[in-house]
Amino acid sequence: MLSKEASLIRDMFNSVAESYDSANDLLSLGMHRVWKKNFVNGISPDTKVFFEILDCATGTGDIAIELQRCYRRAKVTGIDFSEKMLDQAPAKAEKAGFKKIRFLAADILKLPFSDNSFDHITISFGIRNVENLLAAIAEFERVLKPNGQLHVLEFGQPQNQIWSKVYGIYHRKLLPFLGGLISGNQEAYSYLNKSSEEFPSGKEFVKQFSSTAWKELEMTSLLGSVAYIYRLQKN
Ligand SMILES: C[S@@+](CC[C@H](N)C(=O)[O-])C[C@H]1O[C@@H](n2cnc3c(N)ncnc32)[C@H](O)[C@@H]1O
Repeated sequence: MLSKEASLIRDMFNSVAESYDSANDLLSLGMHRVWKKNFVNGISPDTKVFFEILDCATGTGDIAIELQRCYRRAKVTGIDFSEKMLDQAPAKAEKAGFKKIRFLAADILKLPFSDNSFDHITISFGIRNVENLLAAIAEFERVLKPNGQLHVLEFGQPQNQIWSKVYGIYHRKLLPFLGGLISGNQEAYSYLNKSSEEFPSGKEFVKQFSSTAWKELEMTSLLGSVAYIYRLQKN
């Protein structure tokens, strides 16, 4: 089992923060942008009324910015515990023309918000890094309003044997090598790849949500289960 000690994870993201966006573009050949757009477009909130969205593990702010682009009337907040990842978000948002997004340094396991605050929560490629998955789910449940929705974009593991082998070569060998070259921290990219191999995906992920507190709305596999989009509703 990988160590997911919060301070190690934060230090690791602080160390790759500067090259994080360019590494993402190169390592996914731009695919992460397509996935993120689809992820945000699929939220389908009631746009006639004012609503609040929290983007957890916002990193350099991609999802928060896309949320504001798609849903102009929404109040968007992005949180992350890596100050260096977060440092880049306000300037990126301003460059994209969105000055009113609120970015805060905070831990998912201790969200600085009252109960029942948000209509939607998003988290993209962040949930597998959290030290305690069930505690994170409990925090999401606490700050979501009744009937509020949680949207998760996260890596999975390809199911098809041939695809799994091909993707495995890319994921285990090429990704840590290239990620190391771009960021100067090969260890971080080896961690990122191992963490996605160990993280529960598909039905296993959905099982972590208690059926009395949550209702599954949708589970979509991307690129033969390389990643998934999950949408759940708080009861
Ligand atoms: C792989 S990045 C994803 C960033 C962004 N959401 C994206 O899709 O590009 C994962 C982020 O999760 C953040 N993170 C991990 N555990 C966290 C926690 N417990 N609280 C807040 N942020 C956390 C890291 O600091 C990092 O910025």
